[in-house]
Amino acid sequence: MSEISLTPEQEDRARRLQWFREARFGMFVHWGLYSQIGRHEWVMNRERIPVSDYEKLARTWKPKPNAARDWARLAKKAGMRYMVMTTKHHEGFCLFNSELTDYCAPKRSPRRDLVAEYVDAARAEGLRVGFYYSMMDWHHPDGAACKHDEAARRRFVDYIHGQVGELCSNYGKIDIMWYDVSWPLNAKEWESAKMNAMVRQLQPDIIINDRSQLPEDFGTPEQHITPEKGGRAWEACMTFNESWGYTPIDTNYKNAWQVVSMLRTVAAGGGNLLLNIGPTPEGDVPPVCRRELLKVGKWLDSNGASIYAASDPMQQDWMITGAFTRKGNTLYYHCNRWPGTALAIGGLQNTVQSARLLNGKKLRFSQVRDRLVLKGLPAEAPDPLATVIEIEVEGTPRQVLGAGCVLIDDDPWRPA
Ligand code: GLC
Repeated sequence: MSEISLTPEQEDRARRLQWFREARFGMFVHWGLYSQIGRHEWVMNRERIPVSDYEKLARTWKPKPNAARDWARLAKKAGMRYMVMTTKHHEGFCLFNSELTDYCAPKRSPRRDLVAEYVDAARAEGLRVGFYYSMMDWHHPDGAACKHDEAARRRFVDYIHGQVGELCSNYGKIDIMWYDVSWPLNAKEWESAKMNAMVRQLQPDIIINDRSQLPEDFGTPEQHITPEKGGRAWEACMTFNESWGYTPIDTNYKNAWQVVSMLRTVAAGGGNLLLNIGPTPEGDVPPVCRRELLKVGKWLDSNGASIYAASDPMQQDWMITGAFTRKGNTLYYHCNRWPGTALAIGGLQNTVQSARLLNGKKLRFSQVRDRLVLKGLPAEAPDPLATVIEIEVEGTPRQVLGAGCVLIDDDPWRPA
């Protein structure tokens, strides 16, 4: 690596991001009044529910006490290292105690500060704490008018900045400020630079996402896993089914196999996965999410080395049997479609020194030109979620396949 000198600002960012770059896996939690309706967190907008009707949900929401403890325990068991919870979604209802509105959990039917409960729960499990906060607000009277009316803009921006200040002042150390939708203003109108300067003053170690219309510390690809360019930190946020808020009629859930595959993809690209759960209004985790997350956690218990610390970049090509993560000269091939007793990987440009099942037996192999064949594997996949094969190579690992084929006649393993 060449010597790169960082500006003090870049150095500070690198310091603040250090834990995040190694965290890999976090739990996103969408919970709010909409959870009672159970038709997506955009239900107020999608079904054009009048504000006066929607507000009634603040009289009937009675979450069970300390629901967040269960989420945090589950997150920990799943191998997650941090959590991000909606403190206020687009509906405008605040899960925290705010001096600036009475449309908030402690002053309505929940009668408690749900953000305080969440923060305590996450900390009790040693997880980092993130606050999701929607800048767009469908409940605030100035939330739309602010675009055309300067007095409304002034009031609304003061309200948003004020609440962000409350969140950064009242709950101790916060690790992530996770803004969302900034409709209808632009960065200048939001005074985003000023807001984020305040956040940093109150929380010197915090990292801030890119949704206040400023790039800040990390990118947030949503519902797709695409690395940011130039080594910038990033985190893909993904739903478990297709909704963020509790939506029992949306039953298309991801399974543990898919989650493990997403984890491998984020690790290979040096990013994180923020996987969402939408608890019921009471605060229960949908059973299928729990079941699949526990499987993922069990898998990470024995295969974590190939995910958490294995995020060195590597050129690779697609294979139907799996894909690589890498740490230095160690490759981890995550085989998630098991081919049987032999596994062939084409295109590897490096001499292989050894191969073994991660935490398991050494494997025989042949390598003729760029065809690597691993031999003597079990007939059935040792781990159906992904069996990791650890391969030591010489030089900087690279896999290049392209579209052409070469005939290899001198492969000693070639069947007669
Ligand atoms: C989108 C949606 C929102 C969700 C968010 C999560 O911005 O509007 O409902 O909370 O994505 O990233």
